[in-house]
Amino acid sequence: MPPLDLGVLISGRGSNLQAILDAIAAGRLDARVRLVLSNRPGVEGLARAERAGVPTCVLPHKDFPDRDGFDAAAVAALREAGVTWVVLAGFMRLLTTTFLDAFPHRVVNIHPSLLPSFPGVDAQQQALDHGVRITGCTVHLVDAGTDTGPILAQAAVPVLDGDDHDTLAARILVQEHALLVRALSWIAEGRLQVSPPAAPGGRARATIAGVDTALGLAQVRALEPAGEGA
Ligand code: GRF
Repeated sequence: MPPLDLGVLISGRGSNLQAILDAIAAGRLDARVRLVLSNRPGVEGLARAERAGVPTCVLPHKDFPDRDGFDAAAVAALREAGVTWVVLAGFMRLLTTTFLDAFPHRVVNIHPSLLPSFPGVDAQQQALDHGVRITGCTVHLVDAGTDTGPILAQAAVPVLDGDDHDTLAARILVQEHALLVRALSWIAEGRLQVSPPAAPGGRARATIAGVDTALGLAQVRALEPAGEGA
């Protein structure tokens, strides 16, 4: 199979983008990042892309009258760059069907909770506020809802006594980096299968051929060399 032609959408720090770039450089992910697109200028993720020699594009969302206008400009930039798969890596905007219809079942998101628990913003604080003892992260395909699309893979992370937002977010982030790279590598290997809903109004399902994607903390750690993707 040819390498994945990725477009990575960011809004800030870009540590998940860095995990992707590091995995590609290390030969652990058969992909090329064709474009990094940010809706915010001057963010750290853009500098990470530039250091890796990846083209960047800034589309400040405030420059567009509505979401459709922003999404149409983003689609045009991604197509122009030759992108066929899109990764939302800390991209803090909802996408409309204008965007999703341009990349059907080809938009991947990393979310810092075990969906369907704690969708939307600040999933780590939601987990702390709820008092759960296990949370984690989810890689899923994006649909028109908020963090509702077909789930590809999940990793569990414990909530420890004394955790605050930052300690919990840091523990989850380590697993995000490993899980996102692993899910993208499965896609690059052609293993992703998406089945339509079994009944009208039901959910589409994503499966990874030949892989058990219900990964615990230990399994995800074992998948990636320690310390990479930070
Ligand atoms: C991550 O926790 C991601 O799951 C969430 O936003 C954060 C982005 O981090 N959607 P980074 O920009 O990849 O460092």
